[in-house]
Amino acid sequence: MSSLPSVAQVAKAFSQAAQHYDAVAGLQRQAADHLLERVADKLVGEVMDLGCGTGYLTQQLLTQVEVKRVLGVDVAPGMIDWCRQHISDERCDWLLADAQALPLATQSVDQVVSSLAIQWCVDQQALFGHVSRVLRPHGGFYATSLGPRTLVELRWAWQQVDAFQHVNDFVPQEQLATAMQPFFGEVQVQSHTISLQFDTVTDILRSLKQLGASNHNAGASRGLTTRKQIHRLSEAYESLRDANGKLPVSYQIYTIMANKCAPESGSKERVK
Ligand SMILES: C[S@@+](CC[C@H](N)C(=O)[O-])C[C@H]1O[C@@H](n2cnc3c(N)ncnc32)[C@H](O)[C@@H]1O
Repeated sequence: MSSLPSVAQVAKAFSQAAQHYDAVAGLQRQAADHLLERVADKLVGEVMDLGCGTGYLTQQLLTQVEVKRVLGVDVAPGMIDWCRQHISDERCDWLLADAQALPLATQSVDQVVSSLAIQWCVDQQALFGHVSRVLRPHGGFYATSLGPRTLVELRWAWQQVDAFQHVNDFVPQEQLATAMQPFFGEVQVQSHTISLQFDTVTDILRSLKQLGASNHNAGASRGLTTRKQIHRLSEAYESLRDANGKLPVSYQIYTIMANKCAPESGSKERVK
């Protein structure tokens, strides 16, 4: 059983985060820019931005000359409302929908692009099944997601405080590639790690909350976090302070590139 929060909990947390999201989404910008650099020359026609959030990547997709229309999809009503209110481009449509149950016609988009959203999906079969189904035969799925080295410092520091689960589980690289393989002709998953620096543990917890990365997973404590717990968490995290006097926060970023159908020649699956 997955420990991830339910779709309704994810939608609620990200809806509440919409107002503050852009102010704290530096890492999310980096991941989206990295993805776009890698795939810009593959983008043509009608593109879906799956888990579009406040629409940063959606707008970047519209700057690509071969892209005709972009559909921003998100499960959080607050995110879709934000996009409708702040982004006016007639080549852009918005859809409130769950990536694991896409209400779109089969073979209706040329590419699906997604940045730092699919790690919230419990049902990977449904997710990849729907992404593959809505893609046209020549289509590609290009995404970033998160691996288990994400927030390792916070996970470790909480383990010094109590036995509850405070950090989501993230899918290992091989497992992700294996889950995708039945739905795509070719799959590549690459990984790199980004380390952010913070001054205090309070800053780390506040930024996660403002991002909507809430902790509602199955192993989470049902009670409110007490001052005593935060004090003990800070004490543990302090032992990780680096030579520059900063507290590290790691993110393991996957870059995923998949073709709906296998190219004429080449391997079925590659993991680097
Ligand atoms: C960390 S934000 C990333 C937003 C945007 N892609 C970016 O790079 O800034 C994750 C987004 O994925 C959305 N999301 C999470 N689970 C989803 C699901 N099952 N279906 C559609 N969107 C989902 C959230 O509502 C949120 O807006």
